[in-house]
Amino acid sequence: MEHELVVVLDFGGQYNQLIARRVRECNVYCEVHPYTIGVEKLRELKPAGIIFTGGPRSVYEEGAPRIGREIFDLGIPVLGICYGCHLMAHLLGGEVSSADIREYGLTNVDFVPDCPLFVGLPEQGATWMSHTDWVARLPEGFTVAAHSANCPVAAMECRERKLYALQFHPEVLHTQNGLEMIRSFLLKVCGCKQDWTMREYAQSTIAELKEKIGEKKVLLALSGGVDSSVLAALLSKAVGKQLTCVFVDTGMMRKNEGDEVEAAFAGFDVNFVRVNAGERFLGRLAGVEEPEQKRKIIGEEFIRVFEAEAKKIGTVDFLAQGTIYPDIIESGLGDAAVIKSHHNVGGLPDYVDFKEIVEPLRLLFKDEVRALGTELGLPDYLVWRQPFPGPGLAIRVIGEITEEKLDILRDADFIFREEIAKAGLDREINQYFAVLTSMRSVGVMGDSRTYDYTLALRGVTTTDFMTADWARIPYEVLDVVSRRVINEVKGINRIVYDVTSKPPATIEWE
Ligand code: XMP
Repeated sequence: MEHELVVVLDFGGQYNQLIARRVRECNVYCEVHPYTIGVEKLRELKPAGIIFTGGPRSVYEEGAPRIGREIFDLGIPVLGICYGCHLMAHLLGGEVSSADIREYGLTNVDFVPDCPLFVGLPEQGATWMSHTDWVARLPEGFTVAAHSANCPVAAMECRERKLYALQFHPEVLHTQNGLEMIRSFLLKVCGCKQDWTMREYAQSTIAELKEKIGEKKVLLALSGGVDSSVLAALLSKAVGKQLTCVFVDTGMMRKNEGDEVEAAFAGFDVNFVRVNAGERFLGRLAGVEEPEQKRKIIGEEFIRVFEAEAKKIGTVDFLAQGTIYPDIIESGLGDAAVIKSHHNVGGLPDYVDFKEIVEPLRLLFKDEVRALGTELGLPDYLVWRQPFPGPGLAIRVIGEITEEKLDILRDADFIFREEIAKAGLDREINQYFAVLTSMRSVGVMGDSRTYDYTLALRGVTTTDFMTADWARIPYEVLDVVSRRVINEVKGINRIVYDVTSKPPATIEWE
């Protein structure tokens, strides 16, 4: 089904994806396109509205990102944000100038109450500013729609032409009622019908997949992570037993994890193949200490196991992949999105014989993938699963891996996760886990001396996993975890909490 479309035109702003997510939160489908797309292509897309993002440049700089001024003659409503606001002013004959000091942070703004973006909102509110330039003279036909003590044009409008611009960032949560302003632009100015819902997306995608796949066979490598689980659920509803999910249990998974994944798919109409390959992986990893070597071995072995299963099915027509939208968005400044190579375990497509790839999640953001999972009836423990690296516990047992160390780590990690969940922190802390260091130290338990392993606990908050802050887990929670681990898990006599951010550390220890 064709969705009503809004285009987020990216001028290199750091919040480009955030703007798109906000639009979708308003149940309006949108796509991010680089500003280089050009006016002609935009006309063909027939969007209901266009949003210009912010960007790091100044409109007067040589080579600053631009779009043809004819864009304003298409009759399509435009909302400019920050750099997008300056660009609109500049292209339409207004004047933009540099402020002496950069305005950064929370700023109180007075709004013109009958401006369609602000109707029904308080006349004053905090907004998030981050700019050096501002609009010094309005383009013809525009009026001021908001101002602050330092910024005479915090927002401008030309109602007749449906052009609006904000100096501040409505997409960040610090701006009070920012989402409402975006919603008002979409509904009141663009007249959007809000036809983007996960229920509708699920139905139309299932219908499309049925049509595309017909009677043919689909293969999917199921890791039990959010994306591959949702993908499996979606495909099972579309083609049922024509789908084979191969779940390779590497033996490097967390406590009960393999069984949980299997249980979640027991009720689904698919061929679910679980390969218990733990011994095989452990055998190949014996004596290996170096992290990259471990990753390489696991990647290779994974492909061998998967390939062997694929051969049993015979010809596979489609290989399903869990690519999601952030993986494919091209930034406005032309840099391809950074995709961590270690996220695609081993590069399957080269090894399996298939005709075509299906990627039904490629238009979705991560939070939409979760919403879709819930819509499709997946349990919360799969939908809200935190990220887990492909090599699994192999890179959380520092140095050489043994079955004994894996068992110790599994038990300790389980307790940590259980207590974090009990404390209600499981969605707030984006990734948390235990690491079994290879260090042993002296302790005393009862009347005896111990010489056991040190366990490290790690918790981080992050949005993109490229940078992260260490999570401020309350001492009381750490205390309970520490006591329980020492009492319940044999082999550990000391527990430390990792207080480094990324950079300089990475999230994983190996
Ligand atoms: P780092 O340790 O690089 O982790 O800060 C960033 C994110 O990536 C995950 N990670 C991996 N994922 N294979 C994966 O599939 C890997 O080899 C791997 N190494 C790290 C890590 O868990 C975190 O979410």
